[in-house]
Formats: sequence, structure tokens, C-alpha cells
Amino acid sequence: MRGLNRDEIGATGSILRVPPMPATADPKHLPMNPTNSPKSPAAQPRTGAILVTGADGELGHALLCALREQHGESRPIIGFDLRPLDAVSAGQCTRTIAGDVSDGAVLASAFDPSLTGRAIDEVWHLAALLSSRSEQDPALAFKVNLGGSAQLLELAAQPGMRRGTPTLFMFPSTIAVYGMPSLEVKRAAGAISEDQFTQSTTVYGVHKRAVEELGRYTSTSYRMLDADRAAADVVDFRAIRFPGIISADTVPSGGTSDFGPEMLHAAAQGKPYACFVRADSRIPFMTMPDAVRAIMELAAASRERLTSTTYNVSGFAPSAAEIATQVTTLFPAARISYSPNPLRQAIVDSWPEDCDDSAARRDWGWIPEHDLAGAFRDYLGPAVRARYA
Ligand SMILES: NC(=O)c1ccc[n+]([C@@H]2O[C@H](COP(=O)([O-])OP(=O)(O)OC[C@H]3O[C@@H](n4cnc5c(N)ncnc54)[C@H](O)[C@@H]3O)[C@@H](O)[C@H]2O)c1
Repeated sequence: MRGLNRDEIGATGSILRVPPMPATADPKHLPMNPTNSPKSPAAQPRTGAILVTGADGELGHALLCALREQHGESRPIIGFDLRPLDAVSAGQCTRTIAGDVSDGAVLASAFDPSLTGRAIDEVWHLAALLSSRSEQDPALAFKVNLGGSAQLLELAAQPGMRRGTPTLFMFPSTIAVYGMPSLEVKRAAGAISEDQFTQSTTVYGVHKRAVEELGRYTSTSYRMLDADRAAADVVDFRAIRFPGIISADTVPSGGTSDFGPEMLHAAAQGKPYACFVRADSRIPFMTMPDAVRAIMELAAASRERLTSTTYNVSGFAPSAAEIATQVTTLFPAARISYSPNPLRQAIVDSWPEDCDDSAARRDWGWIPEHDLAGAFRDYLGPAVRARYA
């Protein structure tokens, strides 16, 4: 029997049950160290610069605050986005770069150590065209979502190679990687696991899935023909497949799960809202605080505990009508109607009703704070009321 590490021993000293590894496990689900990673460096706290792409987006705003709170002034943060960052987000950053992630030269300039005096050892790659925008311009989506991500992984590998310790690479993937073949199958399947139904019908989902795989490759077998395989442990890639994220602070645009947050923000402003999907449409959601905590907890997890490079996380899985009920409880004057857009409806119908996040719960202790009622009662209600007061 192998030795137990501290994480496997509970606070009371009791031994927690760790599921045995199946004899014929998918290589994606093998422990990354030491089995299929070239070496097992002792975990050392990172001290280098942190690069956040898509820093001006919904998730970027919240994440920059969380990273600054975690690290104080001890680590430089570089915020990178097409748009100049607003004052609050810029204030969290040591340096900001307004640039395009598909422009290799600008992206490479972010890795110049003279920018902050320290080499980058952590990348949070948030920049992307969201699902509806990607479907409208697949060529641009290819350039940004696939091309930009591939260049960034390659750039992140370089300082990892020079240091001999991997660059942490955090990637927000999405439930759009799933493609449910029909509404009947979707309803029968319920909560699905990471390996089921991964043939997306959207270009956004296909690109996200491709980046998950590129990241897994870069983490586990990068440049496998190099004579010195020790040089290959250059990127520690970790992805979360987020459901639709609902924030009280920002109104999203360009995503196909936006009907949830749009309904809430319209009601809070006293505006009518025509929902672009049917009342019975069901997909998983989570709150922004849970989303930020999830990706921060995955980043902090011991690498030896991780059995995959990509994890589902789930919060709650309401129908559009159930969201409307919560919104109407908070704002009784809300005027919500349904005017399904057949194309956006087809995308939502292709996403699962819910995701099985038992691997995240088992490997790094994921537990969402908010269920549907708690999300509206404890977070969205008070924060949205204060925002529009
Ligand atoms: N919000 C959600 O519900 C959700 C769910 C699953 C996954 N995600 C993922 O999380 C990440 C952040 O999403 P978000 O909700 O903050 O989206 P967002 O649209 O608010 O933010 C994306 C940011 O990327 C920037 N960007 C776009 N193209 C760029 C380019 N070529 N170069 C540099 N910057 C560029 C945009 O200016 C924007 O600030 C995305 O990768 C998205 O796919 C979001």
C-alpha cells in the first residue's frame, strides 16, 4: 500500500477514503505526478509575475480583486485586454497592456521580465470571444480562442523551461464543450461527467475543448522527442468547465447563458425582459463568487491530488422559469416574457441540464456555497438592489 500524504488524513486523524485508480484508466485521468509527468518538483510557492488576459471582462474584474487580495503587493500582476482596463481593475494591476491575444508580438511583450522585474510563473487566460459572438464570426473566434490560446501556452512554456519548474496556467473552459444530441437525450442524461457528450455543436465549444487538450498535452508530454525529458515539465495546466456565471456587479454580453443574468438585471432596473429561450430550458449556473472561489481553489490544489487537467463544477441547475420565479420574488413588479430565438435556443438545448462535479469534490474539495434560493437571497438580491438603488 502506498504511503498517505497529509491531505488524505482528516482533521481528526481519520483516514479519508480515496477511490482506487482503475487499472485501465484514461491517461487524462491518471495522476499528473509522478506517473505521466516528467518529474515531481517539490511544491514551492510561486513568487513571479501573474499574467491575466481578458482582465477587463466580467470574470476578469472579480478575479483581479481576488488575486490582489490573496497576494497583496508581494507579486506583480499584469492585466492584458483588448480594451484599456477601467480604473478599478487597473488599480489592481502592476502593469496593464492593451492588446490582442492573437497578436504574437504583443503577447510576447507581456513575458518580457523587464516589464515588472520578474518572470511570469502564473497565467490566467480569460480572454475569449463568447459563444454567441463566436458563432457570428467563426474565423475571428478561431484566431482568438484557439490561435491566441495556443500562442499563450507556448509562451508560458518558455519561462517554465528556463526555470525548471512549470508555469501555472489556469483556463476557464465551459459547458459549451458538451453537445447533447437531442432534447430527449439531454433530459434523460441529467448531470453528465467530464467524458460524456463532448462533441460540441458550437465553434466556441470546439475551440475550448481543443485548448483543454492542448493544455493537457503541454502539461504532460510537451516536446516528447526532446532527449532531455526533464525539460518537459514546463506548464501546469488546469481548466474548469464553468456553467453560466451570474454576477450582481456586471451585465454580460455575447454569451448564450446570458438569459439568467439579463433577466435579473432588467428586473432590478424596472425594465421588461423578453427571454430568448423557452421557459423550460434548463442549464447549470453558478454565482460569480463561487466561480472565482472555484478557480482559485483549483489553482491552490496540490498537484499530486489532481487526477485530471479539466474539471466540471456545478452550482445549481434551474429552468428559465425557475430563475424567473426567483427574480419575481425579489422584484414582484418584474415583467418577464418568453420570445425564443431558435438559433440561441438550439445552442442552449445542446448544453447539458447539469454537470457531475464529483471529481472536483473528490480531488480538491469543491463545494459550492450558493444553491438557487441562496444565490438570490444572500448574494444577487442584496447586491443588485444596492447596485441600482
Ligand atoms: N461568463 C460566463 O458565464 C462564462 C462561462 C464559462 C466560461 N467562461 C469563460 O470565462 C472567460 C471570461 O469570460 P467573461 O464572462 O469574463 O467574458 P467577457 O466577455 O466579459 O470577457 C472577455 C474579455 O476578453 C477580452 N478579449 C476578447 N478578445 C480579446 C482579444 N483578442 N485579445 C485580448 N482580449 C480580448 C474582452 O475585451 C473582455 O474583456 C472566457 O474565457 C469565457 O469563455 C465564462
